Amino acid sequence: KTPGFIFDLDGVIVDTAKYHYLAWKKLADELGIEFTKEDNERFKGVSRKRCLEILLEMGGIEASKEQFNAWLLEKNEDYLAYIETMDETEILPDVPKVLQYLRTNNIPMALGSASKNARPILEKVNLLSYFDTVVDGNEVSKAKPNPEVFLKASEKLGTKPEHCVVFEDALAGIEAANSAGMTSIGIGDAEILSNAKFNFIDFTEIDDDFLNTLLDGVGS
Ligand code: G6P
Ligand code: MG
Repeated sequence: KTPGFIFDLDGVIVDTAKYHYLAWKKLADELGIEFTKEDNERFKGVSRKRCLEILLEMGGIEASKEQFNAWLLEKNEDYLAYIETMDETEILPDVPKVLQYLRTNNIPMALGSASKNARPILEKVNLLSYFDTVVDGNEVSKAKPNPEVFLKASEKLGTKPEHCVVFEDALAGIEAANSAGMTSIGIGDAEILSNAKFNFIDFTEIDDDFLNTLLDGVGS
């Protein structure tokens, strides 16, 4: 049986975490809330709405529904201004190499992201055509570490969870993959992502031999 490969977007395929950070930082400054890069780690893989809830909790701020939604909109508009100019140069190193290798081997591929901006970003960096299906923040209601996003992707690929491989840079994402019963691959700091089955700093460390091992081991 052919395995299915599922990729997170932000921090795995493209380096958008810095833009999310800048947009949250601007809002935090306006609200007088201290917000550091470490705080931003907790926002990785977490939905926009939940991020704002956490930010307001940090500042001890209560907001009406209207105010909450206005801040959500403001953050997203600032974020969209940053990603407006994105192009292929913002794809993380060797990602196209791995996608191309899998495509050449006819491996089904899905995107599994909490972002509602996933499709436009994939279009901007010209990678949308690699994915057989995209499951993003517009389709899921339960945020990672809930496995919903990856289970939906596996369903759409027609591949059982135990035959799926997930690439993730967020702790919550690795937890989601593990509880879905999938093979988790951590991209980034192995100490933070110690729950992953395999760890790599980035895709430059992933070679054809490793991919072949996955193709043999996970699909059978
Ligand atoms: C990804 C990022 C998160 C972000 C979320 C929602 O999971 O890692 O930091 O909050 O997507 O993104 P969105 O583009 O919908 O605001
Ligand atoms: Mg991510």
